[in-house]
Amino acid sequence: MGKVILTGDRPTGKLHLGHYVGSLKRRVQLQNSGEYDDIFIMIADAQALTDNADNPEKIRESIIEVTLDYLSCGIDPSKTHIFIQSQIQELCELSFYYMNLVTVSRLQRNPTVKAEIKMRDFQASIPVGFYTYPISQAADITLFKADTVPVGEDQLPMLEQTREIVRSFGNTYGEGVLVEPSAMLPDNKICSRLPGTDGKAKMSKSLGNCIYLSDSAKDVKTKVMSMYTDPDHIRIEDPGKVEGNAVFTYLDAFSDDSHFEKYLPEYANLDELKAHYMKGGLGDVKVKKFLIKVLEEELAPIRERRAEYEKDVTKVLNILKEGTDYARSVGEKTLAEVKAAMKINYFDDDALLETWKKKYN
Ligand code: TRP
Repeated sequence: MGKVILTGDRPTGKLHLGHYVGSLKRRVQLQNSGEYDDIFIMIADAQALTDNADNPEKIRESIIEVTLDYLSCGIDPSKTHIFIQSQIQELCELSFYYMNLVTVSRLQRNPTVKAEIKMRDFQASIPVGFYTYPISQAADITLFKADTVPVGEDQLPMLEQTREIVRSFGNTYGEGVLVEPSAMLPDNKICSRLPGTDGKAKMSKSLGNCIYLSDSAKDVKTKVMSMYTDPDHIRIEDPGKVEGNAVFTYLDAFSDDSHFEKYLPEYANLDELKAHYMKGGLGDVKVKKFLIKVLEEELAPIRERRAEYEKDVTKVLNILKEGTDYARSVGEKTLAEVKAAMKINYFDDDALLETWKKKYN
């Protein structure tokens, strides 16, 4: 059995630095590691519709934005298949069969779904599609026989649900068809949750505290210069706090010693810079200017690649089309195996057809 990665995002807006450190950067590394036989990145538009049924327009726009974000970060379509969830009918069919293997009370226990219901204030009007999306997510993963699913911690309940479905399917219809996947979590805390430019816990579109991968150099500069630091660090001489100071959190996430050598050689590393800030005598502007240089080193090539792809949208559409066609071909194969195991492949089962003919002739 090959090593297969599947992961995905709901297309509800363009991607930002939080997505970049939390998942995109890792995906590119995994892609280039050469350790995987097949890699899929799914644009989960059908899942996005489960709580955006009345706003397909937003999802539609985001499909291209997100694809451009992927490609500009270094996702290489010759190594990674990017595809659109709703275009794979087999996913619906597989979900439909999985629904018989999951109880309502099991769905009710999913902590991520519970938190999302609260956040969206659904109360008594939870869409059934939303409620059951963990089942559809199990189909996303297993249709491609993925064994590795790089995700954030909030997705662990979906992986657990998927594993349970795989086991239940094995017990009910026979082992060996589906693959039990594992989650691959980000390697460190900052990567799981990059704060917003306002210092709030999370970068999120609705809070307006994001630096987008598609932001211009000018926008990045403006956003960094107005970033939240330490509100008590008023004069340069004042001692400052680095904890909870978003500028330092970003430096934790993005900078390394080589940046100091290049842009701020009076410090050997981030520890020295932090020590000076805490002691007093180091102004926010100097640190912010350094952060801008560090971020630009990462963002400039992304921006350049995006500009290239934007010039050739036909190419981007072809990438999506080819990725989707490939995903469908893999999905069809798995679904045929599933239906055979479930004994609902009537017209492919010659022995069954013979028995029926004999019985009633
Ligand atoms: N639920 C994921 C998110 O909100 C998106 C997603 C859908 C996904 N299907 C998936 C992630 C399958 C990994 C595997 O980010």
